[in-house]
Amino acid sequence: MHLAIRIIEDEHRSLAAVLSALGEAVAEVRAGRLPGDDAVLEAMVCYIRDFPERLHHPKEDQHLFRLLRRRAPELVPVIEELEAEHRRGGELLRSLQEAVAGCAAGRGSVESLSAAVATYAEFEWAHMRREEEILLPGASRVLTEGDWAELDAAFGMQADPLSGVEAGPELRERFRRITALAPAPIGVGTARGEPEGRGGEGALPRGARTRTQVGIVGAGPAGLFLAHLLRRQGIESVVIESRTRQAIESTVRAGVLEQGTVDLLDELGLGARMHRQGAEHHGVELRFDGRGFRLALSELTGRSIMLYAQNEVMSDLAGAWTQAGGELRFEAEALGVAGMEGPRPVIRFRQGGRDEELACDYVAGCDGYHGVCRAALPRSRREFFRVHPFAWFGILAEVPRLSPELIYALHERGFALASTRSERLQRLYVQCDPHDRVEDWSDDRIWSELHARLSTRDGFGFADGPIVQKDVIGMRSFMVEPMQHGRLFLAGDAAHIVPPTGAKGLNLAVADVFVLSRALAERYATGSEERLARYSETCLRRAWNAQRFSWRMTTLLHRFADHDEFQRRLQLADLEEVARSRAAALSLAENYVGLPFPD
Ligand code: PHB
Repeated sequence: MHLAIRIIEDEHRSLAAVLSALGEAVAEVRAGRLPGDDAVLEAMVCYIRDFPERLHHPKEDQHLFRLLRRRAPELVPVIEELEAEHRRGGELLRSLQEAVAGCAAGRGSVESLSAAVATYAEFEWAHMRREEEILLPGASRVLTEGDWAELDAAFGMQADPLSGVEAGPELRERFRRITALAPAPIGVGTARGEPEGRGGEGALPRGARTRTQVGIVGAGPAGLFLAHLLRRQGIESVVIESRTRQAIESTVRAGVLEQGTVDLLDELGLGARMHRQGAEHHGVELRFDGRGFRLALSELTGRSIMLYAQNEVMSDLAGAWTQAGGELRFEAEALGVAGMEGPRPVIRFRQGGRDEELACDYVAGCDGYHGVCRAALPRSRREFFRVHPFAWFGILAEVPRLSPELIYALHERGFALASTRSERLQRLYVQCDPHDRVEDWSDDRIWSELHARLSTRDGFGFADGPIVQKDVIGMRSFMVEPMQHGRLFLAGDAAHIVPPTGAKGLNLAVADVFVLSRALAERYATGSEERLARYSETCLRRAWNAQRFSWRMTTLLHRFADHDEFQRRLQLADLEEVARSRAAALSLAENYVGLPFPD
């Protein structure tokens, strides 16, 4: 990567860190823990004035934009918008300075200061994103070696002290003032690293952080999506994961992504491989009584689903996170979390035989059902369990697709599901006894059950082939209420488990962290904890609905040992209704493709 690009990106991250710290400081003022005339507020605004406004933007205007105008006429409209944004940024900064001065002099309210910080921060984040997503890739394409030499020299000459690159003495002094003035957790050290590790010249430590804004326990879908969503908002996080990277990228899990999940991966710029290798499906088949019925998802709802395995999503998220310099500590076993009621919670973990601590502003418990975070909720929490009287026997088989769309089948021998991973690799399941072990199922037994349960009156058939993986998947339902306590927020399987029949597990985790990321962004930008306070309530509403839907799909499609003929007839009548009634089909389809993410 060219030095100039690295410096621009570093400088963006530094500005994002100061903006987050400013949001944090204003939150402290709101909470009455910091006086409205505290010098740290002024120091931060002066930093923004001196660094991005007086140094960073002019460098872009004078060098990068000038060269790009010459080399890429197609980028001129974007450049003009970005130049206009630099001017607008200056105006917003003046409003921010006035709000800080007003608050310090006791003239203005802390609310108007909060609003000015939020407006400026949102504006700058959007601006930096546009530069990074549109302009810098364009520059990499069109600029010549000579252009880069000029840019590298211009940008390398004097840079931001936060980015760890050599900076002018005045700015370095400004930065020192912020860190010296800001009490923990406001100091930008919260966002960028350990202050005591910083060298005399303001360089940041290369090693691992022991302090961050959001500590994330668990690098499953919830944890990694959250890390990316926060990063997009300029919020730092560190992810602690007990397993190896190989384990999280290879564990076979479900493979249905709701459209909301797909859209979010796209927004994060991480959807390319999914679109290349995944398959968009517009319907699923419900098969019962020897007949198939197509639930036309897209016709009914206007939305679709994506078949793309969870472990592939994990690999995309983890790869992008570490590549962008994000910290992800594998084989770091979380031992517990503490101090959730206070201002400085910590995550205790053991890595490489050493006990360590990560101090955070907030902790996200994304450590699954067996994780340690849930134990930090008070004893007054409520937990709800259901263990189902059956399990799924799952296989990966190297055979061609059985059918263009997923088949969910109810047969008198039990449930079966034909899903897919690629043209040549299929994920197939049959309902089994929860006590079954992998050794109980020979390949012959598996294929004969699949053939029987997927059979139709008009002779549906498919080819057997090599089975490359077998596993038994337990079926249970679990919920905890509330999903938060003090500065701890649970997300994904740590808070709720749904049976796989509705394909909701991963999607529910993503919806949780979407809500959490927005609430944290609001908190850091404006100091308001209002959204954070509603986190549990917002997520539980969606999670209970997903629980209800998974329950419905499970009871609709499984064979229950204690059902008599009366109950079996009712089950078939229920399925018939879905096939006959658009209203019944719509209700199922709407839930299957996923409700919009909560606001
Ligand atoms: C899967 O592809 O593994 C899968 C698909 C649908 C489900 C559950 C699992 O409901």
